[in-house]
Amino acid sequence: MKRSLLIIAIIAFAGCASVKESLYQTTNVYVGSAISLNTIEHDTAAMHALITEFNSITSENAMKMNSMYGDSSHINWAAADNYIDFAKRYHLRMHGHTLIWHESVPAWLRKISNKSIVDSLVFNYIKLFVSHYKQDVYGWDVVNEAISDSLGTYRKSFWYNLFGTTYIEKAFRVANESNPNALLFYNDYGIENDTIKLKAVLNMIDSLTARNVPIHGIGMQMHISIDMDMNLYKHALSEFVKRGLLVHISELDICVNSNKNKDRFKHFSHHAAKLQKDKYYEVVKTYLDIVPRNQQYGITLWGFSDAHTWIVNYCKLLDWPCIYDDRMKRKPAYYGMWKALSE
Ligand code: G3I
Repeated sequence: MKRSLLIIAIIAFAGCASVKESLYQTTNVYVGSAISLNTIEHDTAAMHALITEFNSITSENAMKMNSMYGDSSHINWAAADNYIDFAKRYHLRMHGHTLIWHESVPAWLRKISNKSIVDSLVFNYIKLFVSHYKQDVYGWDVVNEAISDSLGTYRKSFWYNLFGTTYIEKAFRVANESNPNALLFYNDYGIENDTIKLKAVLNMIDSLTARNVPIHGIGMQMHISIDMDMNLYKHALSEFVKRGLLVHISELDICVNSNKNKDRFKHFSHHAAKLQKDKYYEVVKTYLDIVPRNQQYGITLWGFSDAHTWIVNYCKLLDWPCIYDDRMKRKPAYYGMWKALSE
């Protein structure tokens, strides 16, 4: 669909809906979603839901290093510019994801083994990128997933193998120099229930703050299942709160099948829907209860519809982790989240 037609369709659609029911309007905390714009370009209902329900947005892939460069060693700003324009047009807070991630190193960069060349490339990239969107990006995931699962050690990534741990501190410092107003986050998964990983992340943050590194918040990704242990989650939240960090639930989705229990649900039964609704409620309610208002950066879903979720598209798993179904209807999970936000 041409962009102009799409916009007309959205305006017509928006006119019919009651905005009072929207998620973000029930609360004073930011509620967001990650999304790839090309995924919803042809899906008017998804586009409508996105701009109605949320007041914050995260670039699912467009602002990753491999997307910014592609096969070339020159930055291509087009996709990120498009994203920023979209966020501005619909008054969505823009969260930048992510400056340094082991999975998004461009293939051509991976081939360079000279430390000083990579140093100059990557930190100039951060400087250029963060300054370019100085007016537009409110917060950045500066470093993503630097700690290994269950081991409590640093991930032996491309970055770590070249620089040891020093790239983390430098990335935060350069991002801060490039935009002193941006809120800077460390973002990771599994820290809500992997206590060894949590401890390693806390140690890293303590060591960064002891050296006055400008880190403002933690992104708890929260790709979880309905089995997640609430006590471990509460413990993790309170550790971050104690340190005065902003807390962002940055990539929330809740699977009904888990790693341990892959085949529990072969279809999305009423029972599964109820368990998922309860979990969305508990997760959001607990966040709002434990994290003081001035430390709540917000809650971001990693996609809001089962039609476009990475769990099905990327992981090829049988699941229904989102709050909208694949026909863009609100699921019980939606109302679980809505209830927690509106209480
Ligand atoms: O756009 C191309 C398409 O042109 C091509 O035909 C197709 C063939 O595979 O690939 C498409 O790109 C894929 C892209 O998603 C868009 O669907 C990439 O191969 C695929 O690698 C990419 O996956 C993303 C993944 O990160 C890796 O970057 C997922 O969408 C995205 O949801 C996921 O997000 C991560 C967060 O950044 C960090 N936390 C975990 C989270 C889930 O893995």
